[in-house]
Amino acid sequence: MRHLDWGLDGSTVLVTGGAGAIGRAICEGFAEAGARVAVADLDGAAAEAVAAPLGGAGFAIDLIRIADLPRLVAQVEARLGLPATLVNAAGIIRRNADYLSVTEEEWDAQHAVNLKAAFFLSQAVAARLIAARAAGSIVNVASQGFWSGGFGGSVVYNAAKGGLVTMTRGLARAWAPHGIRVNALAPGLVETPMLVTPQTTRAEIAALEAQIPLGRLGQPADHAGAAVFLASAMARYVTGATLNVSGGFLMY
Ligand SMILES: NC(=O)c1ccc[n+]([C@@H]2O[C@H](COP(=O)([O-])OP(=O)(O)OC[C@H]3O[C@@H](n4cnc5c(N)ncnc54)[C@H](O)[C@@H]3O)[C@@H](O)[C@H]2O)c1
Repeated sequence: MRHLDWGLDGSTVLVTGGAGAIGRAICEGFAEAGARVAVADLDGAAAEAVAAPLGGAGFAIDLIRIADLPRLVAQVEARLGLPATLVNAAGIIRRNADYLSVTEEEWDAQHAVNLKAAFFLSQAVAARLIAARAAGSIVNVASQGFWSGGFGGSVVYNAAKGGLVTMTRGLARAWAPHGIRVNALAPGLVETPMLVTPQTTRAEIAALEAQIPLGRLGQPADHAGAAVFLASAMARYVTGATLNVSGGFLMY
């Protein structure tokens, strides 16, 4: 038996939010591992722009339209084959400094993308895998805030990410008998527009970096290897885990 084999060559992976910063890096990582990459995003043109150079396909989807999710899986299956791997990387954040003015709409919007869509797309993929008696793997992109509660007005977002981690554990247990592993990865402080805006000062970035043992903010590319690992045969005995990808910002 080979010990170091990704086992992803020729398989299909579906990455939501694949046109985003971290999602794109994850798509590139899977392509390097030989997978056929389906890039699903609200922005269909951006999804296609990520997918084309990887030999994959882009799909325009609004993930909060739950009724459309089984159709997305069917479209991916028709174009690239049944996705053995699903990466739920799409996410949105709406910060609110003191939580006294959070609206119901802001709560619902964040939970719809970050948690509800991830559940129902996982359901749609798992249903197809189980019907086909095929093994598979789901990787959920959570956040360090699932553990810390989050910083900078991100409690509503991180309540959803906490739900995502809980869901990861529960689905891992439920679908293990079908050969479907479910894991999460938790990015820390990543240098993307979600964290660093044009208004962020050099001093503010330095203050963040000072809290990270590896001494720098995360980059989108730092997450590709973690996602590929969790989906791969190298992690065949790993399920229900949440991999900390934070440069040591959090340790749990
Ligand atoms: N950037 C960070 O610091 C950080 C830290 C921890 C966790 N994360 C998580 O990592 C993931 C990727 O974050 P990012 O920084 O790359 O963000 P990003 O904004 O660059 O990418 C998110 C992508 O999701 C897509 N998306 C949003 N809503 C959608 C919907 N309804 N339907 C389809 N697609 C939708 C967007 O179009 C975008 O391309 C998210 O789940 C985020 O919560 C990010």
